[in-house]
Amino acid sequence: MRRHIIALALASIAIPAAAQSTIGSGIEPSTVANSQTRPVEFAAKPGDGGVLAIIMGSAELPDIGLDAASAASVKAAVAAAKFEGKAGNHLSLRGIGNYARIYLMGTAGDGDAAKRMREAGGKAAQDLKDEAHMISITGGLSSSDAAAVALGYNLGQYRFDRYKTVGKTPLPTQKVTVVTADPRAADSEWQSRGRALVDGVTLSRDLAAEPANVLYPEAFVTRVRDAFTGVANVKIEVLDEAAMRRLGMGSIAGVGQGSRRPPRMLLVEYNGGEGAPLALVGKGITFDSGGTSLKPGAGMWEMKADMSGAASVIGTALSLAKSKAPVNVVAVAALAENMPGGNAQRPGDVVRTMSGKTIEILNTDAEGRLVLADANEYVISTRKPAGLVNIATLTGSIVAALNDEYAGLFARDDSLASAIATAGKNTGEEVWRMPLHKNYGDDMKSDIADIKNVVEGGGPGAGLGAHFVGFFVDPATPWAHLDIAGVNWADRSDALTPKGASGWGVRILDELARNWKPAK
Ligand code: BES
Ligand code: MN
Ligand code: ZN
Repeated sequence: MRRHIIALALASIAIPAAAQSTIGSGIEPSTVANSQTRPVEFAAKPGDGGVLAIIMGSAELPDIGLDAASAASVKAAVAAAKFEGKAGNHLSLRGIGNYARIYLMGTAGDGDAAKRMREAGGKAAQDLKDEAHMISITGGLSSSDAAAVALGYNLGQYRFDRYKTVGKTPLPTQKVTVVTADPRAADSEWQSRGRALVDGVTLSRDLAAEPANVLYPEAFVTRVRDAFTGVANVKIEVLDEAAMRRLGMGSIAGVGQGSRRPPRMLLVEYNGGEGAPLALVGKGITFDSGGTSLKPGAGMWEMKADMSGAASVIGTALSLAKSKAPVNVVAVAALAENMPGGNAQRPGDVVRTMSGKTIEILNTDAEGRLVLADANEYVISTRKPAGLVNIATLTGSIVAALNDEYAGLFARDDSLASAIATAGKNTGEEVWRMPLHKNYGDDMKSDIADIKNVVEGGGPGAGLGAHFVGFFVDPATPWAHLDIAGVNWADRSDALTPKGASGWGVRILDELARNWKPAK
């Protein structure tokens, strides 16, 4: 009888799912979703009038079927402005023919031509966003060029403005036509891959940009379930806190226990091919206050994006699944909120991972590695992956070393490392390989447990963090780790990445998953 009463009392304090979102003010910040974008299509001819964007590989006006008078005006303007068509240069002309605007965009330069096309598309999206006209993009584009322009346009036109309500004028949404001699070939290239990639990057950016009062571990899971609704060959598994404790995952449970919002382990498996999957395991700290080892206030808000790694592995799975890539992947989001609540773990605490390894926690702000430890062990023991890649906003130290030009790459497996570097070159999400010195193992020895989570007094922070994460990957599994603390958030816009959450990782991991094969 007594036991019944206790059970009832417990049931009545359990927070129902619907109420979880209202912890805090109790008021939803918004019901509006107003981040419209323009549809992008392909055609053999530009639209009549509107904005004409001309992609120029030199100072020479390509043959794009302009009427003679307009062509003469454009040529005169090009000469007068000494426009040379260099990548990144542009020239805006008005009052020619029946065009609202003619916008010349240079693409001449060295290196990857597809990259220059993508960037021209992205630049067009940003520079022309306020034009209340349809937009045609032309310039003698091949079908692959046109697909690359469409990819760039869609990445570049991303925005996150759903919480703006005052004085907001919606941006124009007239369509964009990319002109190419073979629009059907361009469209099939775009449909088969680019479109899914944009969906994956957009999902990653949206998750990272959401404030942490909206996006906590359980809400992350709900968003992901919604995003994968109707997508074929996908299985989703979610471990709640009780399930994780039953499995002995004391490391992720410890990080989550200082928050009212409990942790989750989310696995999205996409089966499109043969053999053991590639595991992509992302840090999913929905907010990192530092916990008991509280961070200083300035800039702490950026820690709402401390789940960017998790967002990008999920975005990658979405891209691969929607494009029906012939591969197997398992994306793991290790989700927790790192808060200094009354039940928060303390410096000095010792926790145990699901395999039984013990960790002495000397700083609760080194929490990303703690959630990854259990995630790595769980995916290895249950899915036997052919390789494992971690991706995490793990350390401030990598920002000091590489800023926002490169993510840090750490790897025990050279062939996996070089496949990642190649994928980075191909997609424009570049990495720089960093060392994993054998001394790091000694540096991280604990006096009372198997390993400690930080080395007090500095040292090579990003490398020590990488070593820690790799300590929970069995040495037979090819393993690499990407520290994205410097690249997950754009402080200023560039062509493909508007200011804000970058979605970094979706493009490189999508490319990696398609190309990497474990050595036999
Ligand atoms: N999420 C942070 C790392 C971070 C810093 C991401 C700056 C993005 C921008 C991470 O959890 C953290 O706090 N790392 C500590 C580790 C330290 C305590 C060993 C850091 O880098 O200071
Ligand atoms: Mn931290
Ligand atoms: Zn963190």
